[in-house]
Amino acid sequence: MILIIGASSTVGKAIIPLLLEAGHTLRLSSRDPGKLKTYQTAGVGIVQADLLEKASIERACQGVDQVLMCSHSIIGRGKNASKFVDLDGGRLLIDVARKQGVSHFVYLSALGASTSHSSTFFRHKAQVEAYLKQSGLSYTILRPSAFFLPHTVLHSQAFSQPQLALQEFLAGSKATFFGRGETPHNYVANEDVARFAFIALTDPQAVNQTIEIGGLENLTVREVAEIYSRATGIPKTLNAMPLLIPGLMHLALKPFHPGLSDAMGIAVENDRVPSPFDMTATLKQYPVALTRLEDWVYAQMRERQPVV
Ligand SMILES: NC(=O)c1ccc[n+]([C@@H]2O[C@H](COP(=O)([O-])OP(=O)(O)OC[C@H]3O[C@@H](n4cnc5c(N)ncnc54)[C@H](OP(=O)(O)O)[C@@H]3O)[C@@H](O)[C@H]2O)c1
Repeated sequence: MILIIGASSTVGKAIIPLLLEAGHTLRLSSRDPGKLKTYQTAGVGIVQADLLEKASIERACQGVDQVLMCSHSIIGRGKNASKFVDLDGGRLLIDVARKQGVSHFVYLSALGASTSHSSTFFRHKAQVEAYLKQSGLSYTILRPSAFFLPHTVLHSQAFSQPQLALQEFLAGSKATFFGRGETPHNYVANEDVARFAFIALTDPQAVNQTIEIGGLENLTVREVAEIYSRATGIPKTLNAMPLLIPGLMHLALKPFHPGLSDAMGIAVENDRVPSPFDMTATLKQYPVALTRLEDWVYAQMRERQPVV
């Protein structure tokens, strides 16, 4: 049985059908199991579990062969701050999995995670990676680049964009972003990350490996806006906000909302420092057919029929 912590995440939801089709038995967990009721079918158990509550994690791990951890709390606040959920919660889950005899642990980290990263969240990811490696558990660490999907918002006219800074795009045909928007980054479809998570759970060559995952394209925010504009037929209007805004927010929010402060710091860093990635080596070992952003946007529009 495979336990998915963060089953309601974009990766969790994308991997459920892949695993069911391959005949696996699943235990899906959420803090609010009602979110998962559409996945209730033969071979699926749904449990309530919270990385902040040890007893719930112990219950969730009982009788489980493999764990897929794809949760995060990047902008969580107070008791839900990343330190408690991502760092302490990650270590807790690893400890409980080991004690309960889990045979393999798959951890969704992030590309660029490092203990010297300027972002607390990326440092937490690196710390959990290190903890998992020394735990004695068989593991696979996946390090994806930023996803197309999680920051998109459904608007009445069509779909929006693959990153927070462009949220306004389809609402008002306006792509709002911080800085110049000319710095290339790699983006990947959450569905493609789920394909790698499937490999991590099923392919022996992924055992005790760290796999970096990106998409096929390195794009600037302006290029992303162009792609959305082409795919949706909505002309783009760009609204570049000075970097001073997230820079000041990063400093001002630190004592009150460290998660949002961290996100603002990441926004500043993203406009300054490119993060391109080349998938050639990874694809040689794991031949996954990756999705281009424009095809992904078309597919989203076809599936959800949002355009009126
Ligand atoms: N999004 C990206 O651009 C990106 C890039 C690189 C890596 N990743 C990593 O990929 C994974 C999936 O990301 P995503 O964007 O698909 O996630 P998401 O859609 O934002 O979902 C977050 C998940 O975290 C779970 N969660 C939050 N707090 C929790 C807690 N206290 N206990 C248990 N579960 C908790 C939520 O579960 P419930 O609310 O149902 O409890 C939810 O399923 C994460 O590990 C993330 O760090 C994401």
